[in-house]
Parts: sequence; C-alpha cells; structure tokens
Amino acid sequence: MLTLISELSRAAAQALRAAYENNPAIPDELLVQAPARQEFGDFQVASCLQLARPLGKKPRDLAQVVKEALKAHPAVEKAEVAGPGYVNLHLRSSWLEKKVAGLLSDPRLGLPRSGTGHRVVVDFSSPNVAKPMHIAHIRSTIIGDAMQRVLRALDHEVVSDNHLGDWGTQFGKLIVAYRRWLDKEAYARAPIVELVRLYQKFVEEDHAEAVALGIVKPDRRAEGEGEAEGEEKETRKVAPTPLLSEARAELVKLQQGDVDNLFLWREFVAVSMKEFEKSYQRLGVRFDVQLGESYYNPRLPSLVEELLARGIAEASQGAAVCHVEGEPAPLLIRKGDGSFLYGTTDLATIEHRVKTWDPARILYVVDGRQQMHFRQVFAVARKMGFTCELLHVWFGTMRFRDPDTGDWGTGSTRKGNVPLLEEFLNEALRHAEAVAREQNAELSETEVQEVARVVGLGAVKYNDLCRDRQGDVNFDVDQAMSLKGNTATYIQYAYARIRSIGRKAGAAGGTAPLRLGLPAERALARKLLDYPGAVLRVGQSARPHHLTEYLYDLAGVLSTFYNDVPVLKAEAEIRASRLVLLETVARTLKHGLDLLGIEVLERM
Ligand code: ARG
Repeated sequence: MLTLISELSRAAAQALRAAYENNPAIPDELLVQAPARQEFGDFQVASCLQLARPLGKKPRDLAQVVKEALKAHPAVEKAEVAGPGYVNLHLRSSWLEKKVAGLLSDPRLGLPRSGTGHRVVVDFSSPNVAKPMHIAHIRSTIIGDAMQRVLRALDHEVVSDNHLGDWGTQFGKLIVAYRRWLDKEAYARAPIVELVRLYQKFVEEDHAEAVALGIVKPDRRAEGEGEAEGEEKETRKVAPTPLLSEARAELVKLQQGDVDNLFLWREFVAVSMKEFEKSYQRLGVRFDVQLGESYYNPRLPSLVEELLARGIAEASQGAAVCHVEGEPAPLLIRKGDGSFLYGTTDLATIEHRVKTWDPARILYVVDGRQQMHFRQVFAVARKMGFTCELLHVWFGTMRFRDPDTGDWGTGSTRKGNVPLLEEFLNEALRHAEAVAREQNAELSETEVQEVARVVGLGAVKYNDLCRDRQGDVNFDVDQAMSLKGNTATYIQYAYARIRSIGRKAGAAGGTAPLRLGLPAERALARKLLDYPGAVLRVGQSARPHHLTEYLYDLAGVLSTFYNDVPVLKAEAEIRASRLVLLETVARTLKHGLDLLGIEVLERM
C-alpha cells in the first residue's frame, strides 16, 4: 500500500516522463509537500521550477502537465498552477473524511503488512557478564527494542536475541580476583558491585606489579575501532605480569572445562543475569532468545578447521586469520595459544541463526566503534556462503556530565566512573517526580509515582531515539523532560490533554461522522495519513528518529489545531466530529510511542 503522498509523487513524475520522452533529469518521484500557507491548499509540488532548465521548458508548462495528471487522482478535488510554476492541490473533503474514519476503525492505523514472510533477527543489548549494564549499553537496548517493535508492527517475523558477552577474557581475571580478594558480605549484598570492584582491583594490582617490575610502557592504549566494549587491551606491557599470567592460566583451565572454574563462571553468569533481568523488566524489554557467546564455544574449534580447509582462513605464525579485502587488518579467528576470539563466535552465531531461523536479515544494534569488526565478520560470512542481509545498525557514544568537572564525557569502565544503568534510571525518575508534583498538585501519591515512572523512562528512551543514531548523545535530564520541544514528555502531554478533553466531553463522541471544514482540521487529518509512511521508513532504514520526528510534528499540528479551533464549545455535530478527530490523533500518538517502547498516561 502506498501512502497518498507517494502515490501523488509518482503520478506527477510519471506524467512528466510520458510528456518528455523519459528524460533522465526527471526523478522517480516529485516532492509533494505541505504548502507554506494554508490557503494554497493541502499539498504543493514545487519541482517544476527546478526541472524547467534541464528539460529546456517553461516551468508553468511542466506544471500544467503535472496538474492535469494529479487532477485525475480520486483524492484530489482541485489542482491549479500557481505563481511561476507551482502546482497546488486541494483534497476532496469526502475523501479525507473517509480515510480518517477508516483509520479510526483500523487497530493498525493504516500500517501495511509489508514484512509478512520476511524474518528478521535483531541482535541487541548484549551486555557483558560480571560487568554492570552501564549507560553505554542503554543505547543498544533502547534502539534495538524500538526496532523489534516496529518490525513486528509491520508484520515481520522477529527473533530478538541478547548476545550476552558471557565468555570473555575477563573471567580469568575475575576468578583470580575472586579467590584472592572477595569480600563475602559485600558480595551477598550486591554481587555485581563486588564483581566490578574485584575486576578493578585486579587491574590496579596488575598495573602496580607491572610498574614495580619495570615492564610498563608509556600508555599508548587508544580506544580503537573494533574494540569490544569494556574489553581491556594489553598493549601497554612488554610482558605479562605474574598476576596476568595466572589469570590467563585460569582462563585456559576454564575453557578446558575445569570443574571449579566452571562452577565460579556459572555463578558469575547467574548473578549478572538476575541483575540484567531487573533492568529489562523495568524498561519493558524482552527477548525471544538469549544465547550468549558461551553457547557457541563448542563449535569454534571445528569451525576454524573448516575455514582453514576451505581456504577462507589461513595459518599465520601459529594463528588463524581471514583476510578481508579493503580492510587494514585480517580477522583473527584463532590466536597462537589456541584461544578463540569475539569474531570467531560471531561467525558461529551467523551460522547458527541461518540454520535455525533462515532469516532474510540480521540486524546488529551495536556501538559504532565496532564497525570494522562487523565489516570483517560480514565479509567472511559471505565467503562462507551466507546470503542473508547483514546490517550493522551502529550508534554513536552516549556522554554524560562528569559530576566533578561538569564536562561531557563517556567515562570508562576501567576507571569505574561510568554511571550504572539502574542509577541513571533512578536519577531520571527522581527528576520526573519533582516535575510531576510541581505541574499538577491534584495528583494522588500513587499517581505521582506512576507519572514519574512513565515520564522518567520515556525521557530516557526518547532522548536516545529522537536523533539520528549515528550521532553522539549528551544526556541532559532537564532538556529531556522539557514540556516544550522534541521530547517524550511533550508528546505524552499532548496525549493526556486529548484524554482530558474526552473526559470533559463525557461519554458522547464515539463514531460521529467527520466534517473536515477548516484548514486546521484538514492539516491534522492529512498528518494522520502520514503515520504508516513514517513507520515504514523506520523499518527500512533502521532509524527510529523518523518516527519521533513524525510524532513531534503531529503534536505540533495538534497544538495549532487547539489555537484555531474550539472543540467543547463547538455546535453539537461539529463538536462530535472534532472529538472523533482527536480520538484518532490520541490513538496514533499512543501507538507510535508504544513502538518506541514508551508508555502514555491518561492524566498527568
Ligand atoms: N558484548 C558486546 C559488547 O558489549 C556486544 C555484542 C554485540 N553482538 C554481537 N553479535 N557481536 O561489546
């Protein structure tokens, strides 16, 4: 199903092509936009002005051709050439009224089932075990969840998978630290906090040892592309310290199935999962499967052998590597000491996903610093013969204010100054609670708590979704909860206001016939028809900000409507029609926010 705008855009382009011998200067679609002023009509085409020169024609002659073509569309009541070569379109009120009435009776609000039969795996969140889920993981969780919701709404069959980092090099260090320095009481109270402390303690002790032994080189560690989040590079040292050697030995023992180490590892995974679950519950995020890296471990040795045998990998100084054209470095899949890597696991994961689900597409919602990693993995997967579409849905860095210096920064797990996700959410909720009390003194205590929860979580999520994901994000609590501007709070408020009008109007309303007489009513109706297009764009581009932009615009058109048009004071039939229109807007706002994982409030 095409939206009205794209139907008109294509019809206009086709008419010009037919008239001007398929001239390649004519695009597939001409831009159809809302006009600058309402009296110009519902839509305007301005492209004839730009196309005149390459076609060697007068703009108004082109406009004439477009006008004749668009006049024939059933939605168009009147088309006219205006000014130097614009085409202004006026929609048939009856057409608009019928369309909007159709939306109200459609629980999908016009969304097409474009994804039917098209299975998608969404790999997202994927935090690392024995480390807390900190603020940087929130982006993957929020964007990934929005993607799975949007894709499901378009009727894709979605398999969401939390690819937990439960098999990394951190376990050797943790096992050593746990045996040496565990504070049992602290661990009983807050296991993850204690594990993080142990990990940091290991890093400090290792560094101190290295300094004492004179084996540290000046710190040339830089946060490079392809570095897994939180993974420590050991390029600083010329040789490992005895402590680090011990950790490596414990890791090898673990990987070889040592019973005691496996026992500890299971314990670390269990306490971490419990903690992650709390965050997912709070955020309303769920996964179809949660297959961590460890799940693929048994497959790694044979996979590497197969890749070597097929000539996809080659031996290099005891290690195994896959060369990838155009990349500065090969993908290392087995180290000289026989251990396997992040990328080896990712190859086994693709194989498993293809065998199990045969998806058309796999989305990886992962930090932009891993771009090279995914380019390499995807290239090797192609050589292995996997044909499904592989897409790295990458995003920029989340920055927050350093409480000491006031500067924006990303923090570092190593230094332990990254806010934990839970603390970060608590802070947002506290802020929202204060705002709720201030805004509405009539709310009961239970209502204040509910408003704080919905507004606080909404602000955090929306802040992350409302701009192109590839940019960096500074999280500013005040700005994220502002009642003005492009925020979840503004849109939630727009929804609650419609609900409040509905309550004042009483039970009446329902299915009264629509009358779209005034420009502000028509503008609102037209905007409602754009909803499916916005959702489709998110599904195709994996960029949720197309939906936030739409919702923000819709809320803006709504506020113009309130300025221009009385609702409760209008004469009975008109009032009923306007209530129906508002009801459709409310449903669209709620539906759209839900696709972003954001709740609404009936009053706030
Ligand atoms: N655990 C990894 C990290 O925190 C992210 C994993 C992403 N998914 C994947 N299939 N590599 O950096």
